[in-house]
Amino acid sequence: MMSKKFSRDPIKGMDDFFPSDMRVVDYITNILREISELYCYEEFDAPLLEPIEIYEAKSSTELVNEQSFIVEKKPGERLILRPEITPTLARMVAKKSQELKKPIRWYSIPKCYRYEQPQKGRRREFLQYNIDILGEDTLYAELEILNIVVDILTKFGATSDQFQIYFNNRRFIDAVCKIILEIPREKIQLVYTILDKADKMEESEFEQYLIDSFESEFIIRGIKKLRDADDLDDLIESFDDIPSEFYDSKGFQELKNLEKLINQANLSEFCSFSSGVVRGLDYYTGTVFEVFDTGEDNIRAIFGGGRYDDLLSLYSDEQMSGIGFGMGLLMLELFLRTYGLLPEEISVPDYSEVIYIANIDEKVAPYVFKISNMIRENDCACMIDYRFENLGNQLSKANDLGVSISLIIGPKEMEEKKVTIKNMISEEQKTVDKSNLISVIEIIFSELEEKKSPKIH
Ligand code: HAM
Repeated sequence: MMSKKFSRDPIKGMDDFFPSDMRVVDYITNILREISELYCYEEFDAPLLEPIEIYEAKSSTELVNEQSFIVEKKPGERLILRPEITPTLARMVAKKSQELKKPIRWYSIPKCYRYEQPQKGRRREFLQYNIDILGEDTLYAELEILNIVVDILTKFGATSDQFQIYFNNRRFIDAVCKIILEIPREKIQLVYTILDKADKMEESEFEQYLIDSFESEFIIRGIKKLRDADDLDDLIESFDDIPSEFYDSKGFQELKNLEKLINQANLSEFCSFSSGVVRGLDYYTGTVFEVFDTGEDNIRAIFGGGRYDDLLSLYSDEQMSGIGFGMGLLMLELFLRTYGLLPEEISVPDYSEVIYIANIDEKVAPYVFKISNMIRENDCACMIDYRFENLGNQLSKANDLGVSISLIIGPKEMEEKKVTIKNMISEEQKTVDKSNLISVIEIIFSELEEKKSPKIH
């Protein structure tokens, strides 16, 4: 009787990572790590499970109520597969804050979990690169983080025509709402919600939400201006009789100063103001930003972040501000693919520095193992063919893999303590003493390297 077969697919919204997928992940994470380390950020990680309360307190109700994967092993204990790592970062920093040198510069590439509707760029299990600086209150922290965004994307080969960082400041939105639009304090959260969701809404839906939430035509017009503005001065000019208190507000001052710093650092090509960007997580207090693919058919946020002043208060009385961002690796990959920025080479494994060992006879196996151990001890990778079939077949397999050097070992080589070495590129072949093998391999590799990148004399 035929036994029941289980599905070969992973569970909905989650992905298997085949070696071909891991090559893409490795290519991307190598660059992310390289840039993080150039800015002196250190890597951290933490458990996958956290108590749900920490996200209830300051992240977002959507994240907790609709998107959480919950583990309940004991009545009353609700653990959640982390939907993001920023509250965990705050916990770890709060725990060791006394001994950590400020500012704290950390990055991480955790797997995160959100029970979302799977769609392009959105999965239920995903890798998310995070980089944050804590304990640096000046806008230089913002500038460093924006610089990191630019360095990462340009390192992948992207240009300012392909992406833009849209920045804003929540304190500024607060000041506009309170001082200019005179929106009651308890209704300001509605402004954030609508601005965050605006680009996913039809105009009529947006309009209806505003009418249902606010009676005043002046407020409704003001919120529409916030959604649409892409120039700070024009936005301010569009309001009449602004009280001077507004110009003195921290939000307005921070935005103006950040614009100045962005100009001084020559980053203005990559950064634009956009008062519609507020971000969906509740803990952001100051600067917020989202990075967009600017492609015409493809305008969407790739990733985002911002400043949070009070996240440590979940765990201690200490006040320490941080700023950083989270980036889904899949979102980045889609962006890179859109512009052909993933190198062709990563589509196949690279065996060019591997030594392939072809054996003529099973009797030579012990000698082959000695040779292969010796090669690996010298930090060189090697692959043994265990088929002991005809040599032509073995060498053609080596050729298909793209190796540069094959070794041919038969009873005669074993008896004389020799190895036959074949340069697969030039097809030259010679038999050498086992004791000389490593140096001959090194010579062949360095000759091949020179041919690849000829020295200029
Ligand atoms: P977030 O906006 O919730 O922020 O997520 C940041 C990024 O993670 C998104 O823009 C997207 O690239 C990726 N992402 C989110 N959900 C998914 C999903 N279901 N599938 C694939 N990718 C996804 C945060 O998580 C903040 N903790 C970021 C942060 C760090 N802010 C300051 N420091």
